Amino acid sequence: MFSQCLRGFPPGSPVSSHSPKTLTVCLSALRWTGDLSRVCPAFHPKTAGIGSKVPYVQILPEGLSDQTLITIYGEPKPNAEIFQINLQKGDDVAFHFNPRFNEDGKQVIVRNTRIKGVWGHEERKLPFFPFSPGRPFVMKISCTSSEFIVEVDDRYLLSFTHRMKDLHHIKTLAIEGDVVLKYVVTGM
Ligand code: GAL
Repeated sequence: MFSQCLRGFPPGSPVSSHSPKTLTVCLSALRWTGDLSRVCPAFHPKTAGIGSKVPYVQILPEGLSDQTLITIYGEPKPNAEIFQINLQKGDDVAFHFNPRFNEDGKQVIVRNTRIKGVWGHEERKLPFFPFSPGRPFVMKISCTSSEFIVEVDDRYLLSFTHRMKDLHHIKTLAIEGDVVLKYVVTGM
């Protein structure tokens, strides 16, 4: 696995030019406990958007497409109550993903869209709640032509049908709340 990783990142090449599959192999190999650059010498933290500071904002210059994959390596804080992941077009929120650890005693994930300051109808159905305070997770958001598909720890969690369809104008990824981030990888 390590050699596959190294092959994927010849010295000097920007990591952003490699497929997310290669990156995923690389990150899995590391299990995000150490320094990625030790496993992938050519890994360039900035190009992959490494950040542990929340609020975290990443601009996606080309916006989303029907092939965008966003992978978030994170961990809810020990006393986590709430965090949110927003994909935005300016101030409008195309996809609001909002885990709430204790909403009147229940764990829910609210999904919604906010256009011109107004929230739409909430989607709340959930097969299981995948997050625990202090437990690392790997979350993947795949953008297709019709929906966002969310997986956590390789288990399908939910889909959110696009309400804002001009994907290329959705250029901001913003994460805030009670979560620690290790890596955020965006690509095609
Ligand atoms: C509101 C909350 C917002 C957002 C929204 C989603 O109650 O204040 O932050 O989560 O719900 O519908």
